[in-house]
Amino acid sequence: MRGGGGPLVGRERELDVLSAWVARAGAGAGGVALVTGEPGIGKTRLLQEMAARAADQGFSVAWGRAYEVGGAPPYWPWIEILRALFGRPGGRDPNAAALARLLPELGGPGSERGEADRFQLYDAVTSYLHGAAGREPLLLVLDDLHAADPSSLELCELVARQLGGMRVALLGSHRDVEARRSQAIDVSLGRLGRLGEVLELERLGLAAVEVLVSEATGRDDRESAQMIRDATEGNPLFVRELLRLLADRDRGAARPGVPAGVRAVIRERLALLAPATVALLQAAAVVGREFTISLAAEIAGVTAEAIEEAASEARAAELLGEAGPGRLRFSHALVAETLAADLPAVLRARHHRRAAEAIERRHADDPAPPLDEIAHHWLESGTGGAAMAVAAAEAGQERGGLLRRRRTLSRAGRWRAIRARGPGARRGGHGRQDRRAGDAPPGGGPRPPAARR
Ligand SMILES: Nc1ncnc2c1ncn2[C@@H]1O[C@H](COP(=O)(O)OP(=O)(O)OP(=O)(O)O)[C@@H](O)[C@H]1O
Ligand SMILES: [Mg+2]
Repeated sequence: MRGGGGPLVGRERELDVLSAWVARAGAGAGGVALVTGEPGIGKTRLLQEMAARAADQGFSVAWGRAYEVGGAPPYWPWIEILRALFGRPGGRDPNAAALARLLPELGGPGSERGEADRFQLYDAVTSYLHGAAGREPLLLVLDDLHAADPSSLELCELVARQLGGMRVALLGSHRDVEARRSQAIDVSLGRLGRLGEVLELERLGLAAVEVLVSEATGRDDRESAQMIRDATEGNPLFVRELLRLLADRDRGAARPGVPAGVRAVIRERLALLAPATVALLQAAAVVGREFTISLAAEIAGVTAEAIEEAASEARAAELLGEAGPGRLRFSHALVAETLAADLPAVLRARHHRRAAEAIERRHADDPAPPLDEIAHHWLESGTGGAAMAVAAAEAGQERGGLLRRRRTLSRAGRWRAIRARGPGARRGGHGRQDRRAGDAPPGGGPRPPAARR
């Protein structure tokens, strides 16, 4: 569970809905509510806030959490919850003894748990909750249910069906995309959701991000807020990490690139995809957040169909979306940055060079090629690309008369020709450097023109 800290912003509607739901449970009409959304969107944070509010209203709150790492016994989140309840004054009632026999992990002597005992167990849990809720209303919080074992989810469902007449509120959370990875879990959570409230958390809007920025920096800074909103698309975890990064920079401790916490979250999501898919996304990511399928295919050296297949897998994981015909867009700029940053340097340089070449090829007959973009890719393609980048950038600066542009474009073309001629063709041997880096045609083979002369 990540720590709270700072104000909770942009969740007024959810807090209203859940507060009313908790109040109903307190009045004897218990039920289930599920909070879902992408990693870092603030599910746990909202659960924490509701737990605090319910505790203020006299609820006894118990937490259980499912863990993705192996080794946790079945029913683990429930074991945590029941242990917490047993520890309360009066928590070890006669029902508790029956439960402990069925769940030895709770500390009882028994070990007879098996298929035949399942319904006995459900019955014992329900009876126990019924007794405990007679003393005080209960809020049971089950975090990360996407990682729960099937038995725990089955128990959730059976308990949820009994809550109508009890002072018990069952509040769960799960990552939606991860839940969909397993049909059994998806179906089970779907059934659980239909028994009560489901709240899908959305990314934060600009106003909410502004509050977080002013809280972190001590001043109203619309410009930074807008920049952070754009970069993070309002994912609260990413917002916090970027704010931390900016604070470090202010202190002079610059850590360039994507913050480590953000990277860790994105890597976790990428780990859901096949390695081959990630490799193709990495090739596309050097273009930036948005790219065309055909350009990504050229950079990766594969067919457009291969990119489309990879894209459909990434779309299912909500890492990618459509941006128009033949165009795709990563769900966050930070996804593209992480993908590109995780590439080995040599491969990243090669992808950039292929991108520069492919874009130049496309614009061979274009009087106004996207020179900034071309320059950027040459620059990132390694030392040898710097000269090309300078040429492209110079050409880009001189947007005056056509003649002048043609002259500078032809200069860019000359740089290209020099580079293509190979080792020693220019001071510093850019050509040599380039060929070592990847797949340049050997010995000055024909190359597409940089631009129209
Ligand atoms: N609405 C919000 N206002 C302010 N900060 C928030 C908000 N939501 C989340 N945060 C902060 O963002 C970070 C991530 O939130 P949280 O851990 O709750 O995400 P999560 O959805 O539970 O992620 P995961 O799926 O990884 O468990 C935390 O530091 C949390 O305090
Ligand atoms: Mg969480």
